[in-house]
Amino acid sequence: MKAAYIEQFGGPEAIKYGDLPDPIADTGEVVVDIVSASVNAADWKVRRGNYGQTRFPLVLGRDFSGTVSGVGQGVHDLKVGDAVFGVCEAGQEGAYAEKIAVKAAIVAKKPAELSHADAAALALTGLTALSAIEDTLKLQRGETILIQGGAGGVASFAIQLAKHIGARVITTASAANHAYVRGLGADEVIDYNAKDFTQVVNNCDAVFDTVGGDVAERSFAVLKPGGRAAFIASGAQAPKPSRSDVTSLRPPVGRARRHMERIAELFKSGAIRVPEIKLYRLAQAAEAQRVSESRHFRGKLVFAVR
Ligand SMILES: NC(=O)c1ccc[n+]([C@@H]2O[C@H](COP(=O)([O-])OP(=O)(O)OC[C@H]3O[C@@H](n4cnc5c(N)ncnc54)[C@H](OP(=O)(O)O)[C@@H]3O)[C@@H](O)[C@H]2O)c1
Repeated sequence: MKAAYIEQFGGPEAIKYGDLPDPIADTGEVVVDIVSASVNAADWKVRRGNYGQTRFPLVLGRDFSGTVSGVGQGVHDLKVGDAVFGVCEAGQEGAYAEKIAVKAAIVAKKPAELSHADAAALALTGLTALSAIEDTLKLQRGETILIQGGAGGVASFAIQLAKHIGARVITTASAANHAYVRGLGADEVIDYNAKDFTQVVNNCDAVFDTVGGDVAERSFAVLKPGGRAAFIASGAQAPKPSRSDVTSLRPPVGRARRHMERIAELFKSGAIRVPEIKLYRLAQAAEAQRVSESRHFRGKLVFAVR
């Protein structure tokens, strides 16, 4: 199969495109012929060596959509020819490829209404947003949430999900992306280049931070007493709050078929639409990662694998 992979950690130039052996479905696994895979920020963090995997060649990529082409022992609920989408198990990479072997229990059937490109674009972003907004923050109707980094992949799903729940959504974005995030449903948008969000936002019930660093650390300031904040760009642990009357949380982003099915349901019901997508070929993986790594791309970058 063709794949985009690394043989050592490094910059985008470390990514190679070439032939690797086809994977085989182990017990409980399916092989998926990937049609589309998406670029996530995690991919260039893996490439840089931030997660410390040591087995090379290492095929990058965490989410995909495609067609089942092989079924391992013990798999009775998926068959060859099924269109499926999913996210690799935590710690597993491998979606920048024509084929992947993955645990059957964590992939879901792709609804016909959702194209492969759209399904790949919604997989890890949707899973992460669901884990943060519903399972971790337990956002309620009538609450106010600040979502940091509104134009990004995860945040674009999170804004729509929070609105679907019935919350009021404030988000941060550069001026060029204000119309985009308003179109996703944001009630209030702050140009973080022009204003310090801590000066113009307060009394929030919840914060969802997708930016990290200093933005994450300062986000506690906008919470009301008893407020809660969830962080996905600050590593494996949530940052320690600067005050004692709020809760700091790290969404677990656990893999399970039911999460993929919930993404599909939200899409089919019209609650979630697909973010803007820019298509690349797998051979252009280095170029796509450069764009993602710039941290100012809007929407999602998706590989048309076949
Ligand atoms: N399992 C997990 O824990 C998990 C899963 C998915 C993602 N993540 C992490 O979550 C983070 C976000 O991922 P993503 O894929 O959604 O990112 P992304 O799509 O690459 O986010 C890029 C966006 O961030 C915005 N941005 C950059 N700096 C900003 C700032 N200071 N304030 C507000 N917005 C800013 C940019 O918008 P502007 O151009 O408007 O600035 C851009 O649209 C990454 O660190 C990723 O590793 C974790």
